[in-house]
Parts: sequence; structure tokens; C-alpha cells
Amino acid sequence: MTDTSLFQQITDYANRADPYPLYTELRKSPVHRDETGVYVVGGYHDILSLLHDPRISSDARNRAEQPGGSALPGEEDEGDGVLPPTFLRLDPPEHDRLRAITNRPFGPPHSPRRIDGMRGELRTIVTDLIDHLDGGDGTLDVVEQFSYPFPVTVICRLLGIPRADESRFHSWADTLVSTLDPRPDVDTAERVRIAQQARLELGMYLNALLDERRKKPGDDMLSHLVAGNAPEGRMSGMEVLATAALLLIAGHETTVNLITNGMLTLLRHPEILERLREDPRLAVPLVEELLRFEPPVQMLPNRSPIADIELHGVTVPKGSPLCLVVASGNRDPARFEDPDRFDPDRRDVQHLGLGSGVHSCFGAPLARLEAQLALAELARRLEAPRLLEDPPPYRQNAVLRGPRHLRIAVDGVRP
Ligand code: HEM
Repeated sequence: MTDTSLFQQITDYANRADPYPLYTELRKSPVHRDETGVYVVGGYHDILSLLHDPRISSDARNRAEQPGGSALPGEEDEGDGVLPPTFLRLDPPEHDRLRAITNRPFGPPHSPRRIDGMRGELRTIVTDLIDHLDGGDGTLDVVEQFSYPFPVTVICRLLGIPRADESRFHSWADTLVSTLDPRPDVDTAERVRIAQQARLELGMYLNALLDERRKKPGDDMLSHLVAGNAPEGRMSGMEVLATAALLLIAGHETTVNLITNGMLTLLRHPEILERLREDPRLAVPLVEELLRFEPPVQMLPNRSPIADIELHGVTVPKGSPLCLVVASGNRDPARFEDPDRFDPDRRDVQHLGLGSGVHSCFGAPLARLEAQLALAELARRLEAPRLLEDPPPYRQNAVLRGPRHLRIAVDGVRP
């Protein structure tokens, strides 16, 4: 296997169900240079140190033009005149200002109760969805009937977006996350055009909603962001718009995969499913182990150095695309003992599943709570659940990886 072909194999849909042997290959050398110009890193310690290195930028404007276009489609989709870059794609200090303003109505120190205060509401949403799971023939699709609608309902409540509009933003969100997918085989220009159209439509939709919130504020996050009274300063109208789109999409397309990957992993480890059914408190360490073992965000494809950097004797030139494969770092035997074993009793579980450093996941407390409640309740209420297809069919995306459907059979749904 050559270095050149490895990244293409990792992103190839044929390997989506089990990319882990390829990651083992990837870790055999600390830096792989793909023929499209991307530098790929898969070792835990290197990824961690790069995520904390101020010379590594997330800003697409620091990326040099690649011959023949960007090696990572989707890199040019931000700051395209439709919406400005979100803080996910900005470096400090701009990043820190926008993240601090966004955090005010979301988490500690100013809003310490926001997420925990949603616990009862989250539980009710989970209960309602599970009550309607058994369609009568004893089979169900965990993705469509549970893992997708749950986090979407939650992020809509948090942001103050009418749940009834979901079908409108579902396809925009799908299109935008598909641009994250590094696919050297697919026409970049066409993908950029489609992504810009989706951003434009989502932007117009959110703009109208933000106008309503300006006139008639509620206690939702969008109302707080448009009110803009944080001491850190206020966001411009366009910054609020970009942030709203970021939260909506990030809150939409990641947790669905954590819950589905979780159910799949539990069905492959029935003894752990049984333990969770008997003791819902196991959900807390179990979700951490899941974020290590089957992380919904497999890689961070949007970094580049702002100066030439040296990594184990390899020079990564300024501006070159750098892809950090966090899912590979999570299975690195140099960091975790017996890394391919799913073990919720593992004490040392400092995974990279929610990133690390300045960009570490903003929504982490919400993502964790959603997954813990969801998996504990599914384990408790589904009677004798079993997989109908293993592996299940996966989504195309190599970055945000998870099953498209998870069909299971059950003997019933407990009250
Ligand atoms: C299981 C679910 C989730 C996973 C696995 C996940 C994973 C991640 C990862 C790996 C990053 C780092 C990106 C980078 O370094 O470039 C990130 C950033 C981010 N996440 Fe999440 N996320 C999840 C849920 C959420 C939710 C529910 C929200 C919204 C409420 C959210 C909002 C964000 C935002 C805004 C950022 C950008 C942070 C920054 O640039 O400072 N995420 N997420």
C-alpha cells in the first residue's frame, strides 16, 4: 500500500463501514503526503499537539491555492459573500470574541443552567419518540425514527427555530455537510456552486427568522444573539446569521451519528447493552468511550500551517492542507491500551472525539446529555433489540461518519 493511495482509500465510500484498518496503516508513518497535496496525520500525540499549536490555522484564507483547485472541497465555501466565515473557521482573536458572545446564553459562567435545565424537556422528547417506535411489524429504523428527529427537535428548541420548518432546512444542512467531505474524485466547482446556493437559501431563511426575534424576543439563543448586549461586544448582523447557521448545522448532523453509532456498538456488545439496561448511570462513561471508539467526526480536514512546520523530519509547508484524523488518534496503541476494544469501564479515556484546543466542541455538554439520555432510554425500553443488517448502510460522508439507516427488530417497546 503506498502513501499516495492511502488517503483516497480512507475517503473512499467502499471503506466507510470499517476505516480502522486503514488508520492502523496511516499511523505507520507520522505524516502522509497525499498526491493531491494534503498532509494527513493519524497519531494521537501529534494530533493533540497540532490542535494546540498557534501556528496551525483553521482559517481558509491561510490556505494556499492547490494546483488544480482545493484538495479539500468545501474549504472555499466560507467567506464567499453569502455568509462570512463562522468561528469554526476563524483563528484567535476573532474566533475567541465570537465564541465568547455565543457562549453567553449557552453555558457557564453566564448561563450555567441552560443545558442542565433542558434535561426534563429532553427526557420528554425521548419518551415521546420511543412511545411511537413500534410500528406493529416488530422492525424499526433507529436513524429515521429516533436518532435524527431527537437532536433536531432539541436544537430547534434551543435556538428558537420552528420545528415545523425542519423539512426546509434539512436539505440545506445535508448539502452543506456534504461539502465537508474530502472527495478528490468529484467535480469541485459544481459542489461549490451547489453549496453556495444552499448557504444562500439557509441565510435568507434565518435572516427572516432573526428579524422576527429582533421585533419579538424570547428566551431562545437566537433572541439573545440578536439582542447583542454582551460585554465582549456585539456581533454584526452577518455574524449573527453565520453563527446561527453554524449552531443549527453542528447541532443537527453530529449527535445523530453519536446516537446511531452508540446503538450499533451496543447491539454488537449485547452484554454491555444489558448492563446499561440495568444501570442507566453507565451511560455517562459509555458515551465517553463511544466518542473514542466510534467518533461521529472522524477527521478535521480544515487546518493549515501559517509557517513551515517540521513534524518528525517532514516539512509541512505554510498554507498546505492538513487533515487530522482524530478517529485514528483515538485508536492509537501508543496512547490507549488495547484501543480496538470497546470498554466503557476504561479509566483513561481522554479522546479527541470532540476536538481539543481553542476549537474544541462548543456544544459538548448538550451532545453528551442528549446521547446519555437517548441510549439509556433505548436500552431500557426496547425489548430484545437485534440488528437486521451488519454492517448497516453508511452515509457518504467520510468526515461526519455514521449509518444512513439502522434497521433493527424488537419484540416490543416497554412502557
Ligand atoms: C456528538 C455530537 C457532536 C460531536 C461529535 C461534535 C464534534 C465537534 C468537533 C470534533 C469539533 C472541533 C472542530 C475543529 O476543531 O475544527 C466541534 C466544534 C464545534 N461544535 Fe461540535 N460536536 C457535536 C455536537 C455539537 C452540538 C450539539 C453543537 C451545537 C449546540 C455543536 C457546536 C459546535 C461548534 C459551534 C463548534 C466550533 C467550535 C469552535 O470553533 O470554537 N457541536 N464539534
